Amino acid sequence: MEHSIALVTGATSGLGHAAARLLAGEGWHEIIVTGRSPAGAQQAAAQLAAETKTKIFTPLELDLNAPASVQSALAELVKQGRPVDFLLLNAGLVPFKQRVLTAAGVEASQAPLIGHHQLTVGLLNANLLSPNARIVIAGAEPARGGVPFFKYTDLPEFAAKYHQGNRTAAVEALIRNGPNVKYVPNNTYADAKLIIAWWSAALARRLPSGMAVYAVSPGGATATKVVRSASPVLKYLFIPIVNLIPGMNQTPETAARRYIQASEFGTDVSGQFFASAKGKFSGPIEVQRQPHLRDRASQEAAWQAVVKVSGVDLSRPASLSAVS
Ligand SMILES: NC(=O)c1ccc[n+]([C@@H]2O[C@H](COP(=O)([O-])OP(=O)(O)OC[C@H]3O[C@@H](n4cnc5c(N)ncnc54)[C@H](OP(=O)(O)O)[C@@H]3O)[C@@H](O)[C@H]2O)c1
Repeated sequence: MEHSIALVTGATSGLGHAAARLLAGEGWHEIIVTGRSPAGAQQAAAQLAAETKTKIFTPLELDLNAPASVQSALAELVKQGRPVDFLLLNAGLVPFKQRVLTAAGVEASQAPLIGHHQLTVGLLNANLLSPNARIVIAGAEPARGGVPFFKYTDLPEFAAKYHQGNRTAAVEALIRNGPNVKYVPNNTYADAKLIIAWWSAALARRLPSGMAVYAVSPGGATATKVVRSASPVLKYLFIPIVNLIPGMNQTPETAARRYIQASEFGTDVSGQFFASAKGKFSGPIEVQRQPHLRDRASQEAAWQAVVKVSGVDLSRPASLSAVS
């Protein structure tokens, strides 16, 4: 891939900031960095410029909770008219202690996917991703299961119980955290990251043949601000315990490196979810092969639910049979 233009969402702190800094070191010509407010984006760009002693950072206002903000960001990118080669959809958060819904009725930790979908589809529809573009979206290990204190919803079972087997309606209920969804913040996070993995697989089937998308868990990096609003159990029990176990935590820079590594992957693994080895939150990433992640009906249900909630779909989907 030509190291020309990268766009990193959520670059005001943590892994997005670290990834933008790493991309500068790798010779990217321009790195668009987003923040929820103009001041936040400008501050991130200025800080990164000072840290890297370069002038390659362009600030962009982007609040993924607000469709109007995504539209304005897209309009700005259309005005610039330069295709993005690497789209790093990093922004995200661990859910709040109490349930928080956006103005559009989306649970707060699910909202970044809705905004990221609007952004990605908007760029594709405007022909503003380069022919060999790479898209990386932040996942997390709880999506594959086996992480203590985090449990994802069994979608087929939930759909059968409350939605006459309609998985799209069931995913929409998870995105909106209701009806019939109990708010358990850690489980909501596991669901949000699982829906991201399914969305990536479904998007891969719709991308033009040279492009690729991957869901990538950066792994544990507790020095970021990711758990700032999380429950006390997570902040004061789970994370301190995990930090005592060797190999379960890493620096933000090491975690962000996973995104950069994935940006070099081929189209043959497009749509896959990459995360730490079983039982780990650090170390090398590998493709996750758990059956629930590879369930095509759930992947397509996630895509359709995100399309419905966001109100946005591709105008010209590429062949749906390109990736099985
Ligand atoms: N750190 C870890 O251990 C870990 C592990 C697995 C996965 N992840 C994932 O990695 C990603 C980055 O997390 P991090 O650790 O770097 O956390 P962080 O330090 O809190 O950074 C998150 C970034 O995302 C932005 N953001 C969140 N919600 C947004 C929204 N609705 N609209 C626009 N921007 C939004 C934040 O902006 P504001 O400052 O304005 O809120 C911030 O710039 C997340 O998707 C997270 O789920 C992290």
